[in-house]
Amino acid sequence: MGKKTRLVTALAGLAVLASACVSGAQQDALNPQGPYARKSYDLLVPVFWVAVGIFVIVEGLLIWFAIRYRRRRGRPAGVPPQIHGNNRLEIAWTIVPALILAGVAVPTVTTIFDLARRPEGTVLEVNVLAHQWWWEFDYPKEGIVTANELHIPAGRPVVLTLCAVGLGYGQQPTPSSCQPGPPEGAPPAAVGDAVIHSFWVPELAGTQDVIPGMTNTLVIQADRPGRYWGQCKEFCGLSHAYMRFAVVAHEPADYEAWVRGQQADAAMPQPGTLAAQGMDLFLNGQCIACHAIRGLEDPNGNPLAANGGPDLTHFASRECFAGCWLRTDDAEALARWLDNPASVKQGSWMPDYGLTPEEIRALVAYLQSLT
Ligand code: CUA
Repeated sequence: MGKKTRLVTALAGLAVLASACVSGAQQDALNPQGPYARKSYDLLVPVFWVAVGIFVIVEGLLIWFAIRYRRRRGRPAGVPPQIHGNNRLEIAWTIVPALILAGVAVPTVTTIFDLARRPEGTVLEVNVLAHQWWWEFDYPKEGIVTANELHIPAGRPVVLTLCAVGLGYGQQPTPSSCQPGPPEGAPPAAVGDAVIHSFWVPELAGTQDVIPGMTNTLVIQADRPGRYWGQCKEFCGLSHAYMRFAVVAHEPADYEAWVRGQQADAAMPQPGTLAAQGMDLFLNGQCIACHAIRGLEDPNGNPLAANGGPDLTHFASRECFAGCWLRTDDAEALARWLDNPASVKQGSWMPDYGLTPEEIRALVAYLQSLT
């Protein structure tokens, strides 16, 4: 490697390191904002300093020995006094590491059990369904389904049941709650079926893998209202990096209001408006093959059922869509998305239906009216 190449490599490495230290980063595991994240943090910090101490001692001795006994001009490399068979030393360097490991193991195991315990009292339960590449949040008791944004009350533990779902099991609708494996009698799942993901909101909890055919649980809790960024942490295909989400923590009263808002049927556009045209297109086009909007019926008079796509009932009440990669109030982004989803988010399973610019304008107006 040339001098220049080495310098460039070193500088690039430093830049990557420095970028990890940007303060105020959106996803910061060193800035716990709830009791579960804090438990992990309180374990991480002491274990880190124990590791730093050991590193300094071991590397310090290594360097010291390398210098002290190096080969010198005019005389061979020094051979230090041999201590093979020194019982005292051998017992010491067996016992000391064992004690250090035990010292680390006790709080580690305690924390693992602590985090795995199901909290008591009034917990909120949410099913988290990992799709390629977006998150669906199903509130079974409240009868709510959302996408990309998980709303929770601050100060209350939230028990998440996580499962991975595929594009749809043949013609069967995608399960809207976590159930391991395809529904009974369903054909074997084909292309686009479930893959492994990992759920991570660094400021609220550690990570939990989401594995097809299994249901895992994770408890999160936020101390204060706020918006906390989450991210899929396991490579899951082309748009893994765009599989983001937000946890929105509210004051309890605001949370209840949000629940009531989400329980309502979708807003109906005024007849004759652009949004009303969009609704017609939505109902008579391909959208209803995958998306549901509560309160609407398909041309055969059946309520719409989601099949692999996000529920759009209150689309515009969310800040973001497409794996929280785009903003719902950005009409231009929404238009680009409807025009050709896979050009905006690589690998997106939403097809390009060859919509005309007029159709896209109407659909954007309709989607943005779904508050
Ligand atoms: Cu889902 Cu990475």
